[in-house]
Amino acid sequence: MTRRIEFKQHGLPEVLDFVEFSCIAPNPHQVQVRNKAVGLNFIDTYFRNGLYEVPAFPSGLGFEGAGLVQAVGSAVTRFKPGDRVAYATGPLGAYSDVHTLPEDNLVHLPKSISFEEAAALMLKGLTVQYLFRQTYRLKAGEIILFHAAAGGVGTIACQWAKALGAKLIGTVSSQEKAAIARSAGAWEAIVYREEDVAERVMALTGGQKCPAVYDGVGKDTWETSLNCLAPRGLMVSFGNASGAVKGVDLSSLAQKGSLYVTRPGLPSYANSADSLQIMANELFAMIDQGHITADIRQRYSLADARFAHEALSAQKTTGSTVLLP
Ligand SMILES: NC(=O)c1ccc[n+]([C@@H]2O[C@H](COP(=O)([O-])OP(=O)(O)OC[C@H]3O[C@@H](n4cnc5c(N)ncnc54)[C@H](OP(=O)(O)O)[C@@H]3O)[C@@H](O)[C@H]2O)c1
Repeated sequence: MTRRIEFKQHGLPEVLDFVEFSCIAPNPHQVQVRNKAVGLNFIDTYFRNGLYEVPAFPSGLGFEGAGLVQAVGSAVTRFKPGDRVAYATGPLGAYSDVHTLPEDNLVHLPKSISFEEAAALMLKGLTVQYLFRQTYRLKAGEIILFHAAAGGVGTIACQWAKALGAKLIGTVSSQEKAAIARSAGAWEAIVYREEDVAERVMALTGGQKCPAVYDGVGKDTWETSLNCLAPRGLMVSFGNASGAVKGVDLSSLAQKGSLYVTRPGLPSYANSADSLQIMANELFAMIDQGHITADIRQRYSLADARFAHEALSAQKTTGSTVLLP
């Protein structure tokens, strides 16, 4: 019996049902994966609640997972049944016992990395790879601001920045989360409910502010993020945890110092089998060298995905969360 999480309309976590479904044989270029672990990501809540549209209803959910190949299409050359694999770039439907996806969206998973670790690190780790190594190439000694530093992407960012010798200032909602961010490698953590973020950043940087701000929170932090940027700094707005940023006033970018803004997404960086493999190789090397470890702090059975969504949306999770089929 094959089961997956499915939803027939957008809404709160209770729209997520755990249902039986029949998975069809892979087409010539597809690979069918029996999932061993599935990653929970904030983007999954956007597809569930309708901030992002799904191609059709009923819809599957989720982009990230790891498992064993159970069948391959006739034209597939790089994978065979029994291979250990991981993925993070879609299509939707990872919240499932079995997921079928294009060969180009898969990578071989090294034996040194467990399925759970891969499900926790693939999407979030590849995101940090492009944020720090491609969108803005972070250099040793630089001070940057990173919001939601105790979250899934955030705890990986803390570790990666430290490995690069950069000083990451993280924002978090509580002292407990500040401790998590610091132990992951943040240079400093600002509890935004207790302190003025822009003032602290100004003090911590000796008035210089930051060459780049990484903002996955969106609406609530947009203005603060701009105020933390040095002249000609780069605003990397990569998520909407508090809501989407709308109606950007371009002239304010000039007034605040000729700022640059980018709104990046993983699919436009991992946009081919080659680029995905290059990014994954770098992530796997960081893991193998001990710079990055999976910080899995919540595990749910796949059937309980709705409870995982409730916790993530209510800011109750820290580090990564995996769903287990
Ligand atoms: N563009 C891309 O390629 C890409 C890829 C991956 C992730 N992302 C984005 O990166 C962000 C982090 O993703 P994640 O999966 O690692 O999630 P996460 O950071 O584990 O969870 C989101 C965190 O955002 C903070 N937050 C602030 N205001 C919030 C609000 N109103 N509601 C909920 N959370 C709020 C919370 O931390 P505090 O309690 O400390 O405030 C919360 O724990 C998300 O915006 C996601 O969409 C983007």
